[in-house]
Amino acid sequence: MTTADIAAVLKLEHELFGEEAWSRQMLAGELARQPQSRHYLVAEDQGVLAGYAGLLAAGTQGDVLTLAVAGDRWGQGTGSALLEALLAEAARRGCTEVFLEVRADNTRAQQLYLRYGFTKIGIRRGYYQPSGTDAVVMRKDLSLGGGNAPRGARSRQPGGRNAPPGGNAVPGGRNAPPGGNAVPGGSQ
Ligand SMILES: CC(C)(COP(=O)(O)OP(=O)(O)OC[C@H]1O[C@@H](n2cnc3c(N)ncnc32)[C@H](O)[C@@H]1OP(=O)(O)O)[C@@H](O)C(=O)NCCC(=O)NCCS
Repeated sequence: MTTADIAAVLKLEHELFGEEAWSRQMLAGELARQPQSRHYLVAEDQGVLAGYAGLLAAGTQGDVLTLAVAGDRWGQGTGSALLEALLAEAARRGCTEVFLEVRADNTRAQQLYLRYGFTKIGIRRGYYQPSGTDAVVMRKDLSLGGGNAPRGARSRQPGGRNAPPGGNAVPGGRNAPPGGNAVPGGSQ
């Protein structure tokens, strides 16, 4: 994703996330952190934006910051492809674990993450504002190997061992995008 994609991404962002959508400033701020600590991707079909996703990578920890697919393209594997690409990039950058937050009521996305070996490690009460919806914190241990689930695979990897209560996921998931202090103690 580059700044040239911002307009199309914002349109989809508002369609999918409504009042919790990221602003232009937030998105531009994220892209400015590429490639150092961020990796943002778009999926396109004949020049039309089909989806997008973003990763924060800091040291051995990765964080899926966002993942979205246009509503009329759900169920075609785009979300899986974007997630696989983020996980591959996290591994390439030396991450040994990847965290994410997902709305507690978003079963579809949770199913996708479970299929790729993420396990639920905690709840953040009222994380999504202004709705006050809880977030489920999920973690995938990249050092376990096994890679990514092939399409259709339903098996889950064991994982989440020694996860601290509530997780140590980076504050700043889907809707609290990072403002430069996303990684406790980190430098960005
Ligand atoms: C969650 C989201 C990203 C998933 O994207 P997607 O492109 O629909 O994901 P996929 O197509 O890879 O997989 C989703 C489903 O389609 C199925 N599928 C994928 N490709 C398929 C194909 N070629 N044929 C049949 N089924 C297929 C998958 O098995 C899966 O089914 P299941 O959910 O019933 O298990 C998308 O629904 C979305 O953008 N939601 C709104 C935003 C959001 O919630 N983002 C996550 C924030 S944390």
